[in-house]
Amino acid sequence: MSKHIGILTAGGDSPGLNAAIRGVAKAALNEYGMQVIGFRDGFRGLLENRTVRLESSSLSGILTVGGTILGTSRDKPHKMKVGGKTQDMTDVIVENYHANHLDALVCLGGGGTQKNALQLKQKGLNILTLPKTIDNDVYGTDVTFGFDTALGIATDAVDRLHSTAHSHHRIIVVEIMGHRAGWLALGAGIAGGADVILLPEIPYNIDSVADAVLQRMKSGKNFSIVAVAEGAISVEEAGELDIVRQQLQEAIENDDKQARKKAKKTIREMEAGRGDHTLKLAHQLEERTGLESRPTILGYLQRGGTPSAADRLLATRLGSACADMIYEGVSGVMVAARSEGVEAMMLEDVAGRKKLVPQDHPWVVSARRVGTNLGD
Ligand code: F6P
Repeated sequence: MSKHIGILTAGGDSPGLNAAIRGVAKAALNEYGMQVIGFRDGFRGLLENRTVRLESSSLSGILTVGGTILGTSRDKPHKMKVGGKTQDMTDVIVENYHANHLDALVCLGGGGTQKNALQLKQKGLNILTLPKTIDNDVYGTDVTFGFDTALGIATDAVDRLHSTAHSHHRIIVVEIMGHRAGWLALGAGIAGGADVILLPEIPYNIDSVADAVLQRMKSGKNFSIVAVAEGAISVEEAGELDIVRQQLQEAIENDDKQARKKAKKTIREMEAGRGDHTLKLAHQLEERTGLESRPTILGYLQRGGTPSAADRLLATRLGSACADMIYEGVSGVMVAARSEGVEAMMLEDVAGRKKLVPQDHPWVVSARRVGTNLGD
């Protein structure tokens, strides 16, 4: 009997999602004669049983299209806003999985989606995931789809900012997405030749950054490009955060729910309070160097539009491999990119972990070698 599979896209959208949906569904339909449905708007659509049948006609023409034809949301099965209240809706989701006679559910998403998928696996569902995010921070895969496209967009932006910074003899502080990981800022910073690159993984010292700009001025270069990851933090902020993280760790070890809640809230507030850090950084640099300074926040431009060729290839490769795995009866895994092939990673080994930039990563080493200041 032919298998029934469901697909959903969850978390922030990213280029390559449609290519991945197409990769899973076309291989499932053409190679294995499976029945495929999509759920609208991530786990919300699974909860509300909003489905769409995925057939050849609906899969045609989507390879090059950005975003996701299914829609997405950041809803989590165990914490959903329903009727104004946050509730655990896992049981309804499990019911809907069975009501649709699914043999497997494919969840396309980033770190949060891996955690949600693991919870559903633990409820007995056959779940497979694909690693998507422009942040490239999913643990266990060489790379995520969406990253290459965003890297191209951010690099192009850094290129363009060069000519205006140069003409006006200014510092341009360009904020690049990536959540708590610095992959995008580091990649675009190196490729675009930024003079300073600030990452969450390497807390920065404002004096070191100002010195780098002043050194350039001494050598006759009256402009600088500072590529700053949205999650970059100063040494002082990192110290404060470490204290609260320590408190959180102790609360977890002591099973002190109250203290855990408090520490988590403090971390959230600290993060929210940093919303304007790029602006502040630009001011601080202007004050310290005397050079006019302008912030530029790239924001959602980095997530929109046509996926790059590399992302289309990766998404198609992972998507079609996912259909093979379903056919073979594999589940409870993330279909990870490993060199030119794929590897089925157990969700238990992926969920709750993040792939951050190692301090000795070849990109970090080469950035230092070409004289880029990393703020330390
Ligand atoms: O994970 C992708 C990402 O764009 C991050 O780089 C960023 O921190 C976050 O999503 C923004 O989230 P939202 O789409 O909820 O504003």
